[in-house]
This record gives sequence, structure tokens and C-alpha cells, in this order.
Amino acid sequence: MNIKRLMVIAALCVTQMMSAQTVGNNEQNTDGIFAQVEMRMRYLLQQTEQLRKVTPDKGKLMPRSVEKDGSLRLVNIGDWCSGFFAGELWMMYRYTNDAFWRERAVSNTWKLEDNKWNASSHDLGFMMYNAFGKAWEVTNEQSYRDVVVQAAKTLATRFDEKVGCIRSWSWGTPERWQYAVIIDNMMNLELLFEASRLTGDEQYRNIAVSHANVTMRNHFREDGASYHVVDYNPQAGSVIKRITHQGLFDESVWSRGQAWGLYGYTMCYRYTQDKAYLEQACKIAKFWFSQRLLPDDLIPYWDMRDPAIPNAPRDASAAAIIASALYELADYVESPEAAEYHRLADKIVDSLSNDYLTEPQDKQGFLLLHSTGNYPANDEIDVPIIYADYYYLEALLRRAGIKMNKQ
Ligand code: GLY
Repeated sequence: MNIKRLMVIAALCVTQMMSAQTVGNNEQNTDGIFAQVEMRMRYLLQQTEQLRKVTPDKGKLMPRSVEKDGSLRLVNIGDWCSGFFAGELWMMYRYTNDAFWRERAVSNTWKLEDNKWNASSHDLGFMMYNAFGKAWEVTNEQSYRDVVVQAAKTLATRFDEKVGCIRSWSWGTPERWQYAVIIDNMMNLELLFEASRLTGDEQYRNIAVSHANVTMRNHFREDGASYHVVDYNPQAGSVIKRITHQGLFDESVWSRGQAWGLYGYTMCYRYTQDKAYLEQACKIAKFWFSQRLLPDDLIPYWDMRDPAIPNAPRDASAAAIIASALYELADYVESPEAAEYHRLADKIVDSLSNDYLTEPQDKQGFLLLHSTGNYPANDEIDVPIIYADYYYLEALLRRAGIKMNKQ
């Protein structure tokens, strides 16, 4: 850790000790882990306010990443990354219980509302659940709940009975794919499960279960690794081919795809208690940590089959997603697995916290360095990206035992 950051953290700690303001979870202040998270959070709060300042208040643009020239990449609300920033702000509010963060979270969440009608994206879970879902969890306000339910209704229109999955990308020629389903799409099921839980209407849950089951059958190799894209014949519902889009080659191990699978099946177990999902999540974890090229700090290369390793770019976002998933997975298994998942998640969070944080006021206010978005497209390579920050924050809160829902 460099001197500048150390000084900022030290100053923030002193300010915090002298401040009369208490954080939202005083009961845990005696806990050593909480104290560590507390120290880290003070820095992250300050840095996130920087990102908030450079994000336009008006209009519907959200921060996504840092361009090669150092400028901020803003995206329209229809982008799959549009919901992460609002979700971060809700986590900040949950952590501090401070109206300052709530106000920022509210305004950045409502910017996204029109997405509840956006049937052109399979990523409504990312875009809407991470914002309105987190808002609902923290505030229990009906207005957020209603948007969650409408967004789920819209997402459900992308489900096809014959294939048994929600369609991912609608673009691409028929030669490339006819009905593409990507492993990332597991993450969007949370929106559907939650809509059924909130309304009692089973249709969303049934779609999520079907998608998870078909994906479990078709997306995975014997060893627990996943393909990125499965292309289906929509007339027959059969698999046409298994390929990659963001990985190095079809049979490679695209790191973020493995992370989405691990997080996705862990979340499916949360909602269903179906042991098959738990076993799938544990199998993915086992595969992942048996990767002999996984670096000692547990921050993976963007694709674990890149022959350029150890000189290939890392993907801090995949590590953050995996850490957050492991904290949840640890709650569903007994020790020694539970202890091991905790240990691995802690190690990832420590690596990110010690060696991957941005400098104060640098990188537009993003938190983590070294994520890789789309290597084959030569886009967002080795840069800060909003979803890395989101899952890192989520992991930190999970580490401290802070749930979004206070009840
Ligand atoms: N589509 C989500 C990702 O790039 O990981």
C-alpha cells in the first residue's frame, strides 16, 4: 500500500474515531472484522463520492468504466451496467445509515425506471434488481417493489417454453447463433425469484427454475467449467453448439463466466433450497480453485487458458464476484467447506483491498483497478469497471455480516 493511501486511510480513521456520528451497525463495532471493513469503507465512501460528482445528475447516463485516455465512460440506462452504481449507493446508505447516501441512491435509482418496460434486454436483473431490488431490501418501500415486479414481468417475455431458457442476445446472424443463452444470464434470475416471492405468483419462479435447470444440463463440462454461450435451435429446443464470445476460445475458461455461474447457482439455492443447485455451486468452486494457473493472490487472469499467462491481463471483477458468492455459499454448507469458502473469500477481499484499490481521487472515483470487460473486442482491458466495485462492496458487507435487509 502506498504512503498516500495510507495517510488518507489513517486520517479517515482518526476522523471516524472523533466523529459523534455512528455507523449503522454499532452492535458489531467490537468485532475485529468489522473494524477492518470500517477502515476500508471510509476510504471507499470518499472515493465513491468522487464518482458521483463526475456522473451527471440530470439525464440518464450512468458510470461504467474508464476509457483508455482516462476519461469516464458513461452509458445510457439501456446498458447492462446501468444499475450497478445505484446499487453501490444503496450499499453505502445501508452501511452508513446516512441521509447523504440515501439521497444519492434514490436519484440514481429512479433514473433507471424506464427500463422496467425494456424487453430488448435479458439483463434486466443486473439493471433493475441491483438498483430497485437493493432499494426495496433496504427501505421496504412499495414504489421500489412495484418496479421490481414490473421489470420481472418484462423479463419473463423473453422466455421460450421450447428452449426452457430466457433468450440472451437477440442480435447476431443465424449462422452465428439462433437462440443464444449465456452463462451470465444466471444472474438475472434473482429478479424473477424475488418477483414470485413478493407477489406469490409462481410464473416468474417457474421460469427461473427452468432456465437454471436447462443451463445446468447444457452449459457445463464434466469438470464443472462452463461454456460462455450455448446456441439452441428454437424450433426443437435442442443444443446447436457451445461457443464463446468473450473468452479466448470455445473450450477455454473465461473467468467472469465461471464467476457468474458460481454466484448464480448459489443464489438459486437461496430461493429454492434445491440441493442440485448447491452441488452445482460447490462443483464450480472446486473446479475454480483447482486451476493451477490461478495466481497466489487469487485474482484470476481474464481467461485461465490464455497462453500469455503470466503476462495476460487480470480480471478483478471476476475475483470480486467469486468472493461475494463464496460468503453466501459458506452459509449453506457445513465446515470444513464453510470455513474454507470463508478463508478463500477473505483472501480475495484482502488481495483486492491491499493491491487493487485505486489511488484517492484517481480513476474518476472508481474503486478497483485491473478488470477486463471484453478482451476479444479489445474493449475495457485492465481498467476499473463498475461491476467490479459493486461486487467488491457487496463482498465487504457480507464479510462484516451486514445484510441489506435490516429485519
Ligand atoms: N455480460 C456480462 C459480462 O460481460 O460479464
